[in-house]
Amino acid sequence: MKKLFGVIGDPIAHSMSPAMHNDLFELYGIDAVYLPFHVSKGNLEAAVKGLKALGVSGFNVTIPHKTDIIPYLDKVDPLARAIGAVNTVKNENGLLVGYNTDGPGFVKGLESMAADLASRSALIIGAGGAARAIYFSMAQAGIEKIDIYNRTTDKAEELVSSCPYKVESKVIGRVAAEKSLAYYQLVIQTTSIGMVPDTENLPLLPENLTQNSIVSDIIYNPLQTKFLKEAAKRGAAVQNGVGMFVFQGALAFEIWTGIFPDIERMETNVLRNLG
Ligand code: ATR
Repeated sequence: MKKLFGVIGDPIAHSMSPAMHNDLFELYGIDAVYLPFHVSKGNLEAAVKGLKALGVSGFNVTIPHKTDIIPYLDKVDPLARAIGAVNTVKNENGLLVGYNTDGPGFVKGLESMAADLASRSALIIGAGGAARAIYFSMAQAGIEKIDIYNRTTDKAEELVSSCPYKVESKVIGRVAAEKSLAYYQLVIQTTSIGMVPDTENLPLLPENLTQNSIVSDIIYNPLQTKFLKEAAKRGAAVQNGVGMFVFQGALAFEIWTGIFPDIERMETNVLRNLG
């Protein structure tokens, strides 16, 4: 019987996940379909119960449901539980099990840029949901030193104190972050600054970035934020948010099928969608 996969979110019409996963099902000869489901906040519980009753094989979860879905799942993987967000659900013998592949996907994307991640010192800009997934996953992956700068310092402090994995971290202010940009070999931009329509703003002044850093911005609309352009100008290696998006999808596909898919093909598919 054809297997059912999908993604639930609100809004959902512009999700790039259906095209990406349907292409992979075809590539690997898997008889399955992946559909977008528009689920509003008030319908989340009913939607999850309905998907379970229909025998869905798996689904992704996007804004605004990543945290709210947790009580409706039968089991949640420890990393997703620590992050407090689930973006991937697998039906395991009738039980819905939640995972987070956003953070691990980001780390895999970084690994594709640099082999020696653990020994690199990192700065995360931002302390929201995306930063939390990335910070915990980087710490879990063994990156030893990760500092955080956020406009609201308390949120960065809360993030550091709630991390269950061993990591050396300090929260730094804006001036210190700007001054010490040359010191960090990984600079990770997780805020919405630079995203359409806010394309002219910068999360930090980039003057002290150098060619010694990898600068990663999780935004993919536009493909190159002003921050990434400024980083590239100074010789830094840059990575946009397509990397994280593609790798979170690849890890979800692997959870569902056991196959780690063709990343380049996924990237081409996403770039075609982004036009
Ligand atoms: P997400 O789930 O995408 O991470 P979020 O949880 O709302 O979204 O987090 C947004 C992040 O972007 C936060 O770090 C936020 O900073 P604050 O904690 O100070 O609010 C940051 N952010 C958003 N707009 C910003 C702005 N104009 N200036 C500075 N930081 C901003």
